[in-house]
Amino acid sequence: MKFTPLASVLAVAATTLATPQRPHGWGGDRNQCVSQQRADKVVNEIIAIFGHSPSVDAANTTAHALLADDFQEFSDSVHALERQPLTGSGLTANKTEWIGGIVGRPPITDIESLYISPAGCHKIIWYWQFNRVAAATYRVRGFNLIELNAHGQVDQLVLEFNSIAWGLDDGELPCNFTARA
Ligand SMILES: *[C@@H]1O[C@H](CO)[C@@H](O)[C@H](O)[C@H]1NC(C)=O
Ligand SMILES: *[C@@H]1O[C@H](CO)[C@@H](O)[C@H](O)[C@H]1NC(C)=O
Ligand SMILES: *[C@@H]1O[C@H](CO)[C@@H](O)[C@H](O)[C@H]1NC(C)=O
Repeated sequence: MKFTPLASVLAVAATTLATPQRPHGWGGDRNQCVSQQRADKVVNEIIAIFGHSPSVDAANTTAHALLADDFQEFSDSVHALERQPLTGSGLTANKTEWIGGIVGRPPITDIESLYISPAGCHKIIWYWQFNRVAAATYRVRGFNLIELNAHGQVDQLVLEFNSIAWGLDDGELPCNFTARA
């Protein structure tokens, strides 16, 4: 299992943000599969976006560059938490709405990457742990399946996670559930 300490993750992200570059292509070859290095970079940028690192403006810029214009996000875990029908429909209407929902809200910091790996040729699997969701009574673990388009931009995010722990942390679930800290 690969463990990336948050400090090094943020250091990498900060370096990336200091020298903005368009993520076009796969190092020149559009048919090349995603590398471990590329997977790490995409995940580190997502973590920086959540954490508004190093600033809200930088996170916004990173998000606009990273996400494809036809970006879509899917999650039954979120739909269940929000008491929405589990129809498989997208979570947010579009890229702009997704970015607004992340950079327009308080930052989420203390995100650990438990495992990052290329998944097939154009996807990345990211196993994560959020340590600071609202009251942070429970740590929250989950997986993202991140799909990249031919330009190396994220066009699809599928995420499934422990939404019971998340809901207990932020009060979305009022019930006395069974999780233990
Ligand atoms: C993010 O950047 C876009 C333009 O690229 C801008 O319209 C929007 O207001 C910015 N959002 C925030 C929260 O700064
Ligand atoms: C994105 O979705 C919002 C609704 O959440 C809508 O107001 C906006 O016009 C959409 N933008 C684009 C570019 O489709
Ligand atoms: C939660 O449930 C446990 C066991 O059923 C009980 O001991 C505890 O008092 C309950 N806590 C609240 C806040 O209802």
